[in-house]
Amino acid sequence: MRALLLPLPLLLVAAYPVSGSARRRQAERSQSPSPSPPAPLGASVPFWVRLSPELVAVAPGRSVWLNCSTSCPLQARYSLSTQLRRGRTATGPGWVSYELVNVTAWSSIVHCFATCAGETRQATARINTYKPPRSVILEPRVLTGGRYTLRCHVTHLFPVGFLVVTLRRGGRVIYFESLERFKGLDLANVTLTYTFRARPSYLWQPVTCHARLNLDGLVVRSSSAPVILTALDWSPESKALASTSIAAFVVILLAVGATSLRRCLAMRPRGLCSAC
Ligand SMILES: *[C@@H]1O[C@H](CO)[C@@H](O)[C@H](O)[C@H]1NC(C)=O
Ligand SMILES: *[C@@H]1O[C@H](CO)[C@@H](O)[C@H](O)[C@H]1NC(C)=O
Repeated sequence: MRALLLPLPLLLVAAYPVSGSARRRQAERSQSPSPSPPAPLGASVPFWVRLSPELVAVAPGRSVWLNCSTSCPLQARYSLSTQLRRGRTATGPGWVSYELVNVTAWSSIVHCFATCAGETRQATARINTYKPPRSVILEPRVLTGGRYTLRCHVTHLFPVGFLVVTLRRGGRVIYFESLERFKGLDLANVTLTYTFRARPSYLWQPVTCHARLNLDGLVVRSSSAPVILTALDWSPESKALASTSIAAFVVILLAVGATSLRRCLAMRPRGLCSAC
């Protein structure tokens, strides 16, 4: 599970906090493998419910397993609330695992309800489908003042927080940027602007831009067509500048397609994301 996505309030498991140290101790005891004595009927039993993973990204049309577990010292009753199609289930002491099949909705909330000694609590998870970039485009380089400026556009991808953009020159990585800090749950366009000093040795070298979505083990890659570095503006002035510094400058721009996604969701609540 990606820690970077955890601060989103929607993704917090709705396990109600147990108040008081005595209750906490009781809750801890109930997690231990030795069976706890059953609580007297009618008494409130402190327990938590967990649905894990709390956030999972799947390719559209794939299946996913969600595990609902409780600390209920008694035999809990479980139920799952979801718009997604259910598949197999597996059970064990204190947990039930549910398979959800053919996940095509952009983003779905799943609730698990567990009833323990007459009290019902719930936990929540979110299942997102991901969308590989529609395109990765490297704009022709611009040469000004002895510097190349490269602009790489990665369009219509999701989720952007799992994206790594890499620039290669002559096969060598010259820059990479992880967009983990962008936590939006919307389709996004990302533009990376990279500026570096022109050097004679860069002449005729192909530069490519690579987008990689790294989704908990599943890696989706797309690359741009190469751009060749040519036409060096090798004036004496830029030559002098080039020898003083090789600093590179990077700007990341993020355009989030919140409105278009919302419109799309309204039109096709369970549609394939590629249709958006
Ligand atoms: C479900 O979660 C429980 C508690 O964390 C664990 O003991 C069990 O092995 C899990 N089951 C599956 C199928 O992952
Ligand atoms: C993303 O890029 C595509 C293609 O360039 C464009 O049609 C779309 O309007 C852009 N979306 C946003 C939110 O900027």
